[in-house]
Amino acid sequence: MSAPDTIADTDQIASAIAERRLIVVCGSGGVGKTTTSAALACAAAQLGRKVLVLTIDPARRLASSLGLEELDNEPRRVSPALFREQGLSLKGKGELWAMMLDTKRTFDDVIRRYAPRPELAEQILGNLIYQQISDALAGTQEYMAMEQLYELTRDDKYDLIVVDTPPTQHALDFLDSPDRMMNVLDSGVVKLVWGNARKAGKSYMDWLRRSTKLISSLFERITGGELFGDMAEFFQSFDELYDGIRGRSKEVKLLLQSDQTLFFLVTSPVPSAMQEAQYFLGKISSYGVSLGGIIVNRVHRLADGLVPASDALPEARSIVKCLASSHAKLADERQLKVVVDELIVAWQHYAKLAQQDQHQIGQLSAGRKTQITQVPYFDADIHDLQGLAQLSDYLLTR
Ligand SMILES: Nc1ncnc2c1ncn2[C@@H]1O[C@H](COP(=O)(O)OP(=O)(O)OP(=O)(O)O)[C@@H](O)[C@H]1O
Ligand SMILES: [Mg+2]
Repeated sequence: MSAPDTIADTDQIASAIAERRLIVVCGSGGVGKTTTSAALACAAAQLGRKVLVLTIDPARRLASSLGLEELDNEPRRVSPALFREQGLSLKGKGELWAMMLDTKRTFDDVIRRYAPRPELAEQILGNLIYQQISDALAGTQEYMAMEQLYELTRDDKYDLIVVDTPPTQHALDFLDSPDRMMNVLDSGVVKLVWGNARKAGKSYMDWLRRSTKLISSLFERITGGELFGDMAEFFQSFDELYDGIRGRSKEVKLLLQSDQTLFFLVTSPVPSAMQEAQYFLGKISSYGVSLGGIIVNRVHRLADGLVPASDALPEARSIVKCLASSHAKLADERQLKVVVDELIVAWQHYAKLAQQDQHQIGQLSAGRKTQITQVPYFDADIHDLQGLAQLSDYLLTR
């Protein structure tokens, strides 16, 4: 791989990893969010900051790139020896940590930590409805990401947290999660039993408590189960946690909207990803969070950063000339012609892809002041710290 040659101005990324407290990396499926998050975290650690990268997916490849067996709900430190082995240095107090959000375990921890009484925590954790919904309910993952962020940012244990998010529409949910979880708790059946109870206050709750047995036995006769009793119990016990959830959600939302946080949107230059990026950009501004820039990943272009012309024949011919002279002894005229023809076809194909990518990037940047940083399509998968460091070189070098 040759020297980095990012064409866009990279101030935003460089200053974000040096100064911000929270970086959120968003984008559609498979564009390179997890890899970019890890590369940014790695670069910040090299600068001397204590950094945590929080991923949402199991990201096994990332775990192995970081020399970790797996990622789970506990932050794990990337061995400083691994940096040395791969020829990388960590300045000063630089540390790199990684973890994966485990929705179910985070939810259990939240219940244990914030239930006002241990018996209440046990009651919720043992509740059938809780066990069913705690990792399956729409919005729970995003809500738990919020709770996890609340815990992680509370005690300034890390100088910087880089948050990797799930693909686009879920990432939007993530931005919205504090409100969404409230909506879930206030919606449908829940609202029927629960919302009214909250509105009507204590008298309704008393009524509900008294009637639960009656209604529940009615339900049991119809459904043959204890669903209603469990549901009523769950939402009754959740009542005492409701205000806490709201408070923490508000705090995280404020942090996401503050100048301590910067969002980066990752996309690939293919039209479908670009369309999703446009949609996402429209949405992100409506959430009142700051966008640091757009990272266009896996761009087809030459190692020196140049984009070949669409016919590209002169470049192709010069490559072939070099090849022919370096393999002069082998240069049987007919064989060489076959190789030359194939090379020209491959070259033209690559040139076309490169042109298309630049066209897409041109459309994305038209009339927009947002910083756009291009990262080339690497020949090989990114599978170690060095690969992450190479990617961050492209993100950070002007
Ligand atoms: N610039 C690049 N060149 C080559 N390969 C890359 C590049 N960027 C990322 N990759 C590879 O692409 C794959 C997908 O990347 P990654 O897992 O980071 O995407 P993602 O956006 O997090 O995906 P998902 O939406 O599924 O979570 C990985 O194998 C990664 O190593
Ligand atoms: Mg990912």
